[in-house]
Amino acid sequence: MSLPESPYKKVTTHSIQKMKIAGEKISMITAYDYSFAKIFDAAGMDIILVGDSASNVMAGHVTTLPITLEQMIYHAQSVVRAHQRSLIVVDIPFGYYQSNSEIALASAIRIMKESGGHTVKLEGGEEVIDSVKKIVRAGVPVMGHLGLTPQSINKFGTYTVRATEEAEAEKLKKDALLLQEAGCFAIVLEKIPASLAKAVTESLSIPTIGIGAGADCDGQVLVMHDLLGINTNFTPRFLRKYLNLEEQISSAIKQYIQDVKTKDFPNEMEQY
Ligand code: KIV
Repeated sequence: MSLPESPYKKVTTHSIQKMKIAGEKISMITAYDYSFAKIFDAAGMDIILVGDSASNVMAGHVTTLPITLEQMIYHAQSVVRAHQRSLIVVDIPFGYYQSNSEIALASAIRIMKESGGHTVKLEGGEEVIDSVKKIVRAGVPVMGHLGLTPQSINKFGTYTVRATEEAEAEKLKKDALLLQEAGCFAIVLEKIPASLAKAVTESLSIPTIGIGAGADCDGQVLVMHDLLGINTNFTPRFLRKYLNLEEQISSAIKQYIQDVKTKDFPNEMEQY
């Protein structure tokens, strides 16, 4: 499948803004290593997110809470080595920005200096506004993240849809405007009603990127393991699976084991 040539040789926060104005949808996916990031970048992905979902899909933790700043920097360095065109966003992990804005700035600076990523992302609204302002003032672009914010899973108790009640929806709308005023260049909206995501998207001049937030967001993001079907036991309604890699990899590996056991591999052509 070939895509029409993009006018953006390198995607920047400015290109993302132009895409919103032009009504061009923004594509975003997570990646945590060089090899996958290279494929996604070459395929024409606008944004690659080095998500703290690495804690789940790379390290096998139940939540995103355990991953450290050093581990995020390691994943981001690997992704950055693959960079040609995509904008690279790196999550600031839990515990490295919540306590105060000085710590938040120090974490953002470490990510930028040590990984070479282009921007950072953090979760929350009003509670993190001082940190967003300080990081933006230091010249680091910030992506916000509202709705289901997985770093707060212990407060929410479940991963169900957020902001279905009026009070939470109103707070989310207010938080989105605060994040925009504080200088965020885009906001992820995770698992909220499509009608609310539409209203927020229309109220902002910066782009929204949805995950389980409907078709009216300015862009969409999915976790690579989910859309490639590496995680077969994760089947939320919002997820479209483009491959069933777990099945394909498993059958390839079984074939390899059988070929080794039966002495079919290697054959004469596969040796020196
Ligand atoms: O860490 C992550 O993968 C994310 C996406 C769900 C947006 O934050």
